Amino acid sequence: MDIREELQALSESAPARIAAASTMEELAAAESDITGKKSPVAAARRMLGKIDPDQRREVGILIKRVAVSLQRDIDARRSVLLLAEETADLAADAIDITLPGRGQTVGTHHIIQQVVDEIIDIFVALGFTVARGPEVETSFYNFTALNIPDTHPSRLETDTLYVDYGDDDEGVLLRTHTSPMQARYMEQNDPPVYVVVPGKVFRSDPLDPTHSPVFHQVEGLAVDTDITFGDLKGTLEMFAKQFLGKDTEVKFIPHYFPFTEPSAEMHAYSNGRWLELLGCGMVNPAVFENVGYDPSVVTGFAFGMGVERLAMVRHGVTDLRYLLENDFRVLRQFV
Ligand code: DAH
Repeated sequence: MDIREELQALSESAPARIAAASTMEELAAAESDITGKKSPVAAARRMLGKIDPDQRREVGILIKRVAVSLQRDIDARRSVLLLAEETADLAADAIDITLPGRGQTVGTHHIIQQVVDEIIDIFVALGFTVARGPEVETSFYNFTALNIPDTHPSRLETDTLYVDYGDDDEGVLLRTHTSPMQARYMEQNDPPVYVVVPGKVFRSDPLDPTHSPVFHQVEGLAVDTDITFGDLKGTLEMFAKQFLGKDTEVKFIPHYFPFTEPSAEMHAYSNGRWLELLGCGMVNPAVFENVGYDPSVVTGFAFGMGVERLAMVRHGVTDLRYLLENDFRVLRQFV
């Protein structure tokens, strides 16, 4: 084919190829084919020297015209594609400034912590102080100092979570109640004692509507020279009225705990039914002896209550797991 014919063919086919390029990459490939080193335009330029001198000027002008025209098409297409790419990029990171802002929510205490604080406030108002103890305990404080015999089933691994730590002869465990702080507190402080102890406790129980392997208790201990069962009843009745309402009735039902003698459960009448609220009793003289108090001089009462249970009674929660699942629909009700 004659150079002129070839250039003519190129100037007819190339515009469609340029227009069909839909990305910058496709356009670059088309440009290289049309005006690049191996293109017909480049080949024509290389051949110019071999052409008859009388035709050279005419062919030269033709090459230039075709090259300029195609380059203009390519540049025009490039501007179009660039604009499209920029528009797409902008759309991709668009921020809708008309959307309302995300407000900062202010946190609150969890309902369990709120109930702990409320219980503590009631006793602090009566003159009690607050103490805390270790969650990892020795069997001595968790059981032995509290007059719980070696054979008691609560010591078994079916009930108590032991930890592999230290070389305590009797074993190291996650405390099963807050009562060990009775012994620790009395060892460290002379009477009189008026203390409440909030904290986490642990038992080998599966999670179900009324049990959890981790829960909270508040322990109470009052020791003085002439504390009576009447003081216990008056104090705990006062607590029930503060916590559940001033018309709340209570009753004390005999029970057994190794660390108190006599022992009782306090039940409260609330929302049409009797509910067990806590365990209590007069501190067993054996416990006083274990901690170095003289049982001929001091008497005292103690009590322990489960916080989750009280929170459920108080707020009509039917399944303990609702309090533990961190479901906003539940937690939001207690802000
Ligand atoms: N520690 C007992 C429990 O976890 C509760 C309890 C009962 C605590 C009687 C006391 C008490 O201080 O006097 O079931």
